[in-house]
Amino acid sequence: MNEIIEKVMRKEELGEPLLKEWIEGFLAGKVGKDEMTEFLKAVCKFSLSEKDGSALTKVMVESGETLSFKKRAYPYADKHSTGGLADSTTLIVAPIVAAAGVPFLKMSGRKLGHTGGTIDKLEKFKGLNPEMSIAAAEKVVDEVGAAVIAQSKELVPADKALYKLRDETGTVKSLPLIASSVVSKKLASGADVFCLDVKTGNGAFMEGVEDSVALAEWMVKILKSHGKKAVAVISDMNAPLGDYIGGEAEVSDAIDCLSGKQSRLSELSLILSSKLISLAKGVSEDAGAEEATRLLRSGEALKKLMEIVRAEGGELSLFSEEKRKEIFAADVGSVFAEKSGYLKKIDCVSLGGIARKFEEKGGNGIFVPFKIGDPIEKGAALAVLKGKIEADPSILRELSACFDVSKTPVDPLPLVYGIVD
Ligand code: URA
Repeated sequence: MNEIIEKVMRKEELGEPLLKEWIEGFLAGKVGKDEMTEFLKAVCKFSLSEKDGSALTKVMVESGETLSFKKRAYPYADKHSTGGLADSTTLIVAPIVAAAGVPFLKMSGRKLGHTGGTIDKLEKFKGLNPEMSIAAAEKVVDEVGAAVIAQSKELVPADKALYKLRDETGTVKSLPLIASSVVSKKLASGADVFCLDVKTGNGAFMEGVEDSVALAEWMVKILKSHGKKAVAVISDMNAPLGDYIGGEAEVSDAIDCLSGKQSRLSELSLILSSKLISLAKGVSEDAGAEEATRLLRSGEALKKLMEIVRAEGGELSLFSEEKRKEIFAADVGSVFAEKSGYLKKIDCVSLGGIARKFEEKGGNGIFVPFKIGDPIEKGAALAVLKGKIEADPSILRELSACFDVSKTPVDPLPLVYGIVD
């Protein structure tokens, strides 16, 4: 067995030189996939020290280029979610922060596991091309204050290679592996102010609140040790964040939030935006919250999202209320509560998988109106498939198994469990 794997299993310090040789060896094809999988499995089981986690992050950053942007009145802000269902916060946070005058340039990913990807959502705006160079993204920031683009191939190639292997080998759920993956991308991405949205619950990669807090603390500490301003919000992922999962319906829900709809999605987006505005401008949390709320309520943030979409080449048809109503209206099947009671559990991982399958067949998305603890009447629709395609009966059966209704009352879950700064 390789020395580095034995060291992980004996919980010995690995050190930066050994980690560097190992990661570079993997990228150069000298360390094989099987050996790397053994290493990842060992890290999942035995973890790494904070020092080695930090060294791994550094080695990953150094595997590619690090961006730097031209100076502006305020530092660049960025957000990152550790992954969840119906999480279209970027579509709301980017325009709020940009409307506040804080430059926002974010590189986002595509779908991963059961979770959705911001880039797939952006592409729902016909014509929008998120595959652009950094120079082109900076031009968009010059024009409208924010750009959300697809991840560059040159940025953290080690994360790209490792993440693919982790996804294939079931080695995603590890604190040091998630932390190094997220933080390496943030350190290489050129921003100076970060708000991390660390999800907790059965739809998150970290299910327990304590583990999520530990992950948040680890990530904030590394970012700060590199001179960045960072805060993490521990948010609930025991139910989809927005009311619609997947496709055009999810994007339309985000536009509805920017048009005044109040929901957990708009509430969390306001919290993340407030933190970024407060950190970037050096103003109090209250002042950040006041500005974010004003920009959302006044419609300035909605106008800003239209500008961003247009600047990235997209059409604005989804901003028409009629078009959104059309997307939400097309019901092609529902699952109904078999008894009255309270919503106890939503299996978010299965629900995310079903939403993905439905979307791949051309569906608009799935409407999930209830949150944990909500009272449910027998016969109420727990989930509604939206689209202009025929719903396969097997999808409805699978969907029905995602919901657990209890006869006895269930406490609602908080949206935010804590803040790490
Ligand atoms: N998001 C990432 O970018 N990396 C992980 O490992 C998990 C979530």
